[in-house]
Amino acid sequence: MSQWHCVATLSDLRARKKKAVDVAGTPVALFLVKDNVYALNDICIHEQRQLSKGALLFGKVICPGHQWKFDPATGQPDDQEGCQPTYAVKVEDDGTIHVSLDRVREDA
Ligand code: FES
Repeated sequence: MSQWHCVATLSDLRARKKKAVDVAGTPVALFLVKDNVYALNDICIHEQRQLSKGALLFGKVICPGHQWKFDPATGQPDDQEGCQPTYAVKVEDDGTIHVSLDRVREDA
């Protein structure tokens, strides 16, 4: 059975479209892209920079380290090997955002 963690609200994400949260000791970066919330491990698979300190551009998460461009749903970088871990997200009617570390996105 999955354990869901309440980590933020939609209003937390509206202004900057991103937020770093701690989910049971795991650093997670939340991103808001076209009304969808995505959760990726916040530590880049390349050289450990924080994705939450990067940017969103054309629907991709841009790492501040070396500008790898990650698909927020799948964690796949453009033109690079590897895959950034992603996590399942559910947003309740009241705007609370829940993340599960032991489930993958169903649309990934
Ligand atoms: S640290 Fe993320 S692209 Fe290099």
